[in-house]
Amino acid sequence: MKISVIGTGYVGLVTGTCLAETGNEVICVDIDQEKVEKMRNGIVPIYEPHLDVLFERNIKANRLQFTTSLDEGLAHGDIIFLALPTPEDEDGSADLSYILSVSEEIGKKIKEYKVIVDKSTVPVGTAEKVQKIIAKNASCGFDVVSNPEFLREGYAVDDFLKPERIIIGASSTRAKDLMKKLYDPFVRSGNPILMMDEKSAELTKYAANAFLATKITFMNEIANYCEKVGADVDKVRAGMGTDSRIGKRFLFPGIGYGGSCFPKDVKALQKAGSDNDYDFKILDAVISVNDYQKTILAPKIEDFFDGDISGKKLAIWGLAFKPETDDIREAPSMYLMEALLKKGANLSVFDPEAMPNIKRKFGDRLTYKESMYEALEGADALVICTEWSIFRTPDFQKVASKLNQSVIFDGRNLYNVEDLKEEGFAYFSIGRNNSLI
Ligand SMILES: NC(=O)c1ccc[n+]([C@@H]2O[C@H](COP(=O)([O-])OP(=O)(O)OC[C@H]3O[C@@H](n4cnc5c(N)ncnc54)[C@H](O)[C@@H]3O)[C@@H](O)[C@H]2O)c1
Repeated sequence: MKISVIGTGYVGLVTGTCLAETGNEVICVDIDQEKVEKMRNGIVPIYEPHLDVLFERNIKANRLQFTTSLDEGLAHGDIIFLALPTPEDEDGSADLSYILSVSEEIGKKIKEYKVIVDKSTVPVGTAEKVQKIIAKNASCGFDVVSNPEFLREGYAVDDFLKPERIIIGASSTRAKDLMKKLYDPFVRSGNPILMMDEKSAELTKYAANAFLATKITFMNEIANYCEKVGADVDKVRAGMGTDSRIGKRFLFPGIGYGGSCFPKDVKALQKAGSDNDYDFKILDAVISVNDYQKTILAPKIEDFFDGDISGKKLAIWGLAFKPETDDIREAPSMYLMEALLKKGANLSVFDPEAMPNIKRKFGDRLTYKESMYEALEGADALVICTEWSIFRTPDFQKVASKLNQSVIFDGRNLYNVEDLKEEGFAYFSIGRNNSLI
C-alpha cells in the first residue's frame, strides 16, 4: 500500500519505518528541514534501539522516503497518518493546533479518496473535529480513523512490529478494511485488532496512560510511607506483584514519572473531564503526588550535607526521562538539577544518549562528562536519576576511589541496600528505610 506519515518524530518515524518493513511504500513528511535533510542522508535523528537497521534497509529498498512537502505526502498515500505533536496547552488541555492546521490543508489538497489516520494522542471528539475541518474544503471522499499508538520509547520498534493489540476507531467499512489489511502482518501470532468507535479509541489511549501513571504514583506513595514506618518497598513490591490481579510491572518507585506522554496525557484527561463536567479526583491526586515526588531527593541530599550544598560537587548519572532513549521531555532529572543548582551545587553529569538534548537546555550550567566514572572525579556524592543498565553493576571500588566520600543518592533503587553497606557506602534510595548506614 502507499502510506504517508505526517510528522516524523518518535512515533512517526517508527510508524513509517515499520510500515515500510512490511512492504509498503512510505513517504514521511516533516516540517523540520534539518531533520528531513539528516534522514535523507541516512541519519536516524533520534536514539531508538534497532531503528537504524530497518531504516537503512527500507531506504535502500526505496520503500522509505522523506520530504518537507505536505503536497507530496498528501498526493502519495492512500492512507495518511498524522503523527503530530499534541503538547500540553497553557490550561493543561492537549494543544490540537498541529493536527487541526494540517487537517485544514488536507481538505484543500486531497484529490481522491484517502483514509486519514490520527495516531497522535488526542482527546475524545478529535476525529469528529478533523472530519468536519477536512469536509469543509474536500472535493473527494475520505474517512477519518483513530488509531492511537502504544509504543514505548526504547522498545518502539519491537512494540510496533509485535503489538499487544491494535486499536482502530472507525465507522466506515472501507476504512476498517484498509486498516485491517495494513496491520494484519503485525498480528500474525494472534494479538487482536480491536475495532471500535472513534471516541472509545481516543479515550482508550488516555485511560491506559492515566492508569499506568496512577500505578507508578501509587507505588511512590507506598514507598514514601515505607520510609515513615520502617518498611522496605522492595519487599512490599515483591509481595504485591505476585498477585496476578496486580502484576509485577510498573511497581517500581522512584523520583516521579516524566516523559513526553504521561505528564501531558494525565493533565489532558483531567482537563477534558472538567470541560465535560466530570471531576477526575484520582488524576488530581496523581498529578500532585508526582509533582511532590520529583522534589524528594533534593532535601535528602541537603540533609546529608547539614543543609548546605553550596559549592558541593555532585555527579549525576542519567538525564533521560527513562533508559534507552535520548528523550528528556519532563525528565525528573531536570527538576532535581534545577533544585540543586539553585542551592549552589556544581553538577557534573553523564548520560549515554541524552547529553546533547540536555546541553541544549542547560548550556554551560552543567559540566558534561564523557563517561560515568569521569563524572565522579572529585565529586562529593553520586546522584542517580535514570536506570540505564550500565549503571546497574558499577565497579564500586572505582566509584569510591573517584568520589571525595562514598555517598550515593539513588532515585531509581538500582542497588541492594546490604551490598552497598558492605561496600562502605552511605546509600540513600526510595522507600527502603535506609536513611543512614
Ligand atoms: N513518544 C512516544 O512515546 C509516544 C507514544 C505514543 C503516542 N505518542 C503521541 O504521538 C504524537 C507524536 O509524538 P512524538 O513523540 O512522535 O512527537 P515528536 O515531537 O517526537 O514528533 C513530532 C514531529 O512532528 C513534526 N511536525 C510538527 N508540525 C508539523 C507539520 N505541520 N507538518 C509536518 N511535521 C510536523 C515535528 O517537526 C516533529 O518531528 C503525540 O500526540 C504523542 O502524545 C507518543
